[in-house]
Amino acid sequence: MSNITFTMIKPDAVRNNYIGPILAKINQAGFKIVAMKFLKITKEQAAQFYIVHKDRPFYNELIEYMSSGPIVAAILEKENAVEDFRKLIGATDPAKAEPGTIRKEFAKSIAENAIHGSDSNENAIIEANFFFSQLERF
Ligand code: CMP
Repeated sequence: MSNITFTMIKPDAVRNNYIGPILAKINQAGFKIVAMKFLKITKEQAAQFYIVHKDRPFYNELIEYMSSGPIVAAILEKENAVEDFRKLIGATDPAKAEPGTIRKEFAKSIAENAIHGSDSNENAIIEANFFFSQLERF
């Protein structure tokens, strides 16, 4: 069954001009782009988006980083989208990511790791709703 995942190309990847190559890998892997926007989020929005991590030591650093520059947010559709997308992006720490994954190729550290992918179907829906209205999905 086809389902969705949510992704962000993060500020470091945007700054390094990796939007094009990352989108190409996403297309080549068979994901359909359902919704997409290029925007800069505020610290408050970043804090809300990552509220599940509020007790982690890296929470403040994460908020500063995610609000430090523009991002590309998108909803992607594919059979088994969440799991397949997490395989495509690789481990959170790029040093541990498999060769050929997006983080292995485009990320420099565990904090600035180039791309986000939802970790469950439930969170994919929550995260997609955070960024997109129904009118912005195709
Ligand atoms: P992501 O998996 O998209 O969502 C949580 C983010 O927190 C993660 O990507 C990283 O950007 C960041 N993160 C996770 N672990 C660490 C860490 N140990 N130190 C700093 N940032 C982290």
